[in-house]
Amino acid sequence: MSKRFDAENPFTDEAIAKQWATSVEVESGNWRDKVLYPEMRRWLAGIVEPKAIILDVGSGQGRGSTEIDGYGTYIGVEPSEFLVNRAKEMYSAPNRSFIIGNAYELPIDSESVDGVISVNVLFHLANLETAVKEMSRALKRGGSFFVNTTNNDSVEVWKTLYTDLVVNETMMQGNIRLPGAEPALNTFYFQPNKLVIDALEKHGLHTEKISYSCVKDGKTLFITIEGKKA
Ligand SMILES: C[S@@+](CC[C@H](N)C(=O)[O-])C[C@H]1O[C@@H](n2cnc3c(N)ncnc32)[C@H](O)[C@@H]1O
Repeated sequence: MSKRFDAENPFTDEAIAKQWATSVEVESGNWRDKVLYPEMRRWLAGIVEPKAIILDVGSGQGRGSTEIDGYGTYIGVEPSEFLVNRAKEMYSAPNRSFIIGNAYELPIDSESVDGVISVNVLFHLANLETAVKEMSRALKRGGSFFVNTTNNDSVEVWKTLYTDLVVNETMMQGNIRLPGAEPALNTFYFQPNKLVIDALEKHGLHTEKISYSCVKDGKTLFITIEGKKA
């Protein structure tokens, strides 16, 4: 398959990042508001450390930072300069920081955070295992994680959300239809759910809860995996 862009991560292209940010910003009353963020807040409530530091890996345009209020400090790490700037513009607050960085080499000290969030990032990564290893390195022992990614069992439904799709054995690329924005180029690596759970476990991130959400055509589009670092 011929690559349609040089970088592994299309979000580092400003035009693509802009479409993504627009879509997140115009959507309301959707899956994020109805399911994702309530679930995230329930998870946060289980973190008893009163001054918890929560790391968001692949924080995008920063919307997730607003859900952390009341639970401590938020650090969003994101490779797209455009999205980091957008996050600072929209969500700056004394307890929130947004920094440029990559999941493969997090600019975060080892065992320094109490919770790790990552929402819809893992399926964009060619090297799942390195990212998971880094998340685990950053998390304190006994710390909690909340990872949302695509439900790989629903790949056939996901394919219907793209146009101009090119597919090989490991991944697909195409223009994903985004609510409220132009379709934007997007990369989707096929990562069986068990592969993700096993990668987490291998790096000491023990799964305690799995849930599925966002039904389309009788299938759930997302999987959320929660647990603790041993
Ligand atoms: C679908 S967006 C989700 C953004 C955000 N988590 C949210 O829920 O709004 C995917 C994000 O993953 C980021 N991403 C892709 N590759 C990455 C990498 N290697 N390290 C960190 N983030 C990455 C993209 O830049 C983009 O912001």
